[in-house]
Amino acid sequence: MNRQKIVAGNWKMNKTLQEAKCLAELIVNKAPHNDVKKIIIPPFPFLDSVSQVLSSRPDFNLGAQNCHIHSSGAFTGEVSAAMLQSVGCSYVLIGHSERRQYFKEKTPEFVQKIKLALSNGLSPIYCVGETLEERKLNRHFEIITEQLTSILSEFKLDEFSKFIIAYEPVWAIGTGETATSGQAQEMHAHIRSVLIDFYNSAVAGHTPILYGGSCNPGNARELFQCPDVDGGLIGGASLNEDFCSIIGSF
Ligand code: PGA
Repeated sequence: MNRQKIVAGNWKMNKTLQEAKCLAELIVNKAPHNDVKKIIIPPFPFLDSVSQVLSSRPDFNLGAQNCHIHSSGAFTGEVSAAMLQSVGCSYVLIGHSERRQYFKEKTPEFVQKIKLALSNGLSPIYCVGETLEERKLNRHFEIITEQLTSILSEFKLDEFSKFIIAYEPVWAIGTGETATSGQAQEMHAHIRSVLIDFYNSAVAGHTPILYGGSCNPGNARELFQCPDVDGGLIGGASLNEDFCSIIGSF
């Protein structure tokens, strides 16, 4: 199955405006021109500036790290899906483990956010992942199934066709410990089987499933060679030139 290859860089809460513009310019100048879709996900205040830098490369897209559960109104400090669309975003991260862990976000919020994202023309990058404890208890497949099906039950097939899934084991995020290619492939195949059960094999076959968690230029090639790994969601290694090497790792 020929699926779209994707590498997305989640800058999290890093950089100043000047640094963000420099990093975007570096990436745009050095990233290989290949058939990989590249998505840059900077902090909110830099979206517009980074969008301008990316405009010279049609293979680059802009994403946001979060959006609010309501469409507009008196929610001081929040950012709506419509605002993101108006500054050029095409993607938004939903369900990242840091949102689950530090901000106690759960399925009902994710559903609301995804509905607003979709109605504003944004594709959700929905993140799933088990903790180390859950893996040690051999509950990882069950946990990922639950994180997926609780969301999928709220979306029809045509809505789901806009989704990207990211498998990010919590124990691998920012720890330097990557899932082995065997562990990644096994879970990505599991995710695809859940999608087959829920929708059908055509949809499952077309859905991009990214791996995230300490992905770097040293391990990206082996991970991306797995038949069910369609690319990566990159944190730390998206903050420098390593991101360009990862884009060239297919
Ligand atoms: P990491 O983060 O690459 O720094 O482990 C990945 C992520 O949280 O998306």
